[in-house]
Amino acid sequence: MDVLRTISELRAWRRAARGKVALVPTMGYFHEGHLCLMRTARRAADVVLVSSFVNPIQFGPTEDLARYPRDLERDRALASDAGVDALFVPSAEEMYGQSHETFVYWPTMGNLLCGRTRPDHFRGVGTVVAKLFNLAFPHVATFGRKDGQQVLLLERMVRELNFDVEIVVCPTVREPDGLALSSRNALLSAADRIQALGIYAGLDAARAAILGGERRSAAIRNEMAQLMAKSPGLGVEYCEVVSRESLRAVDIIDHCSMIAVAGRVGTTRLLDNLWTMGADGDIRIEL
Ligand code: PAJ
Repeated sequence: MDVLRTISELRAWRRAARGKVALVPTMGYFHEGHLCLMRTARRAADVVLVSSFVNPIQFGPTEDLARYPRDLERDRALASDAGVDALFVPSAEEMYGQSHETFVYWPTMGNLLCGRTRPDHFRGVGTVVAKLFNLAFPHVATFGRKDGQQVLLLERMVRELNFDVEIVVCPTVREPDGLALSSRNALLSAADRIQALGIYAGLDAARAAILGGERRSAAIRNEMAQLMAKSPGLGVEYCEVVSRESLRAVDIIDHCSMIAVAGRVGTTRLLDNLWTMGADGDIRIEL
C-alpha cells in the first residue's frame, strides 16, 4: 500500500491508476465502520484510495480537534489488510496553506440538525470533500449512513455541483449491544459507554413503534424520550423526525424519513439515526 503525503504525490498516483477508482474519505483512527466502507469500495472499484485527514475547518473553536484520536501506524496496517491501494495522509498545511477563502456550504440544510450547534461544521466537510474529489477524481466514493446529514448533504453537492462521482451509502456498523461505532467512542469511559447506549435504546424503540404501525412523529419521539430518560448521563442535543430531502421536521413519517439523534456523554458528542425506506404502505427500517 502506498502512503501519499502531498498533493503532488496524490496527483501522480492518480495519473498512474488504471480502471475504476474508489475514494473513502475519513479522519482516521479506523474502526469496523471505516473498514466496511473500504471493503465496499474494494468490491465497487479496481483501485481503492483512503484519505485520512483530521480536517481542522470542520471543528469549531471549542471542539475536540486537539483530542481527536490518531494512530497512523495502526491505521496503516488496518487499511493494508482491507486491501486498500493507497492512503492519503496530508498535513493541514498541505490542504489549506496559510489561508483559505473558498468554501462549499449549504445555507439552509447545513444549518439544521447538527448545524444548529456546529455552525461551520458542514462547510468544513463540504469543502474538504470537494477538494478530495478534485484531487482524486474518484468514480465512486463511500460514506456511512451513521452520519446521515453529512451523506445527504454530500449527495446534494454531487448533484448540484455536477461532480461525476457515484456516492455509495454503507449501513451503520454497530457493537453487539447496538452502540454505533465511532472514533469518538475511544474517548468514553466504561460508565459513559453505558449512558451512550441510551441513544440506541431510543432508536430501537422508534423502530418497534414504526413496525407496530405508528406513523406520528410526536408519538414516536415521546416513546424515544421515555427510553432515553433512563440514561441520565446522556444529554440529548436533538431528537428529530425529518424528511431526508429537506431535513425539515415532518409530522408523519413516510418511506423517506430520518430519525436523527445527537447527544453528549460527558464531553463526547455522539450521533446516530434510523432511516425509513421502501414503499409507502410497507416501510422498512435501516438502523
Ligand atoms: P469519519 O468520522 O472518520 O468517518 C469517515 C466515514 O466513516 C464517514 O463516511 C462516516 O459516516 C463513516 N462511518 C463512521 N462511523 C461509521 C459506522 N459506525 N458505520 C458505518 N460508517 C461509519 O465523517 C468524517 O470522518 C468526515 O466528516 C469526512 C467525511 C472524512 C470529512 O472530513
